[in-house]
Amino acid sequence: MNYATLNTGAKMPLEGFGVFQIPDAVECERVVYDAIKTGYRLLDTAAAYMNEEALGKAVKRAIADGLVTRDELFITTKVWVQDQKTEESAYNAVRASLEKLDTGYIDLVLLHQALGDYFAAYRGITRAYKEGLTKAVGVSNFYPFVLANFCDNVEVIPAVNQIELHPFFSQEDALALMKEYGIQPQAWGPLAEGKHGIFTDPVLTEIGAKYGKTAAQVVLRWNVQRGVSILPKSTHVERMEQNISIWDFELTDEDMSRINEMNIGHSEIIDHFNPQLVKALNNMKIHP
Ligand SMILES: NC(=O)c1ccc[n+]([C@@H]2O[C@H](COP(=O)([O-])OP(=O)(O)OC[C@H]3O[C@@H](n4cnc5c(N)ncnc54)[C@H](OP(=O)(O)O)[C@@H]3O)[C@@H](O)[C@H]2O)c1
Repeated sequence: MNYATLNTGAKMPLEGFGVFQIPDAVECERVVYDAIKTGYRLLDTAAAYMNEEALGKAVKRAIADGLVTRDELFITTKVWVQDQKTEESAYNAVRASLEKLDTGYIDLVLLHQALGDYFAAYRGITRAYKEGLTKAVGVSNFYPFVLANFCDNVEVIPAVNQIELHPFFSQEDALALMKEYGIQPQAWGPLAEGKHGIFTDPVLTEIGAKYGKTAAQVVLRWNVQRGVSILPKSTHVERMEQNISIWDFELTDEDMSRINEMNIGHSEIIDHFNPQLVKALNNMKIHP
């Protein structure tokens, strides 16, 4: 496992485990415990995933069972749009997340979307950072034009920007900008959420065959080899194992170029540029 050094000086595992779309508490607790047992040390949740409490319980159990210590884990959560209204609402959202996680501190708090009053909200999570509730702050889904303006106007440069990154939406321009600002890029949907026939893609399968690896392992390796942190999600232990077994092979420059050619230049998972989606996200409530 390789680590990224964040602009705070903290080390973050380059590969982690995401828990989006595991709303059932019992299942989420089982899955997170299995992920830790499998070797994942970076865990990614969000207030909007409604499973912070379950993740926290799994962490406690893993620590009690001697699988891991708290300081070996890196726990990320995100403030939802509903709380990206004022400095106070975002700050309170961090407190609420920490209470649910019950992990002593959070390693990274992100603003989930570039929506609402995200400057005010960022001041709120920055306050939580200064008070030690979280060891770092960052953003998610900040496209390059939003991120440049943001970085030029905030006190603390985000440590991480978590965006959709996979071979079909490779966002090289976003990576170049993050490099300029010293921001660590992190991929959500690193397996394209299974879209585009990614697991049976002929190019990925052919490349993988050279190394005895699956198409999934090839796409994950491609992202980490270009310096991107990844958060593959799976509820299946054998897939968790498969997805973390990417640290024993290296793609050639030619493999990397062939994968780069698969980019279609836009997302087919979410259209952040659709005003109806913006309205829907602004109206999505996760608490009263
Ligand atoms: N910031 C954001 O806005 C945002 C948005 C989306 C996601 N995220 C984060 O990023 C994480 C990952 O993204 P994601 O969950 O959307 O999608 P993903 O990791 O790209 O794909 C997950 C899907 O792939 C399947 N899968 C996983 N490994 C596989 C394998 N080796 N072979 C075949 N199928 C496999 C999973 O099925 P099974 O579970 O059935 O195995 C699941 O259906 C999330 O969990 C979340 O933490 C953040």
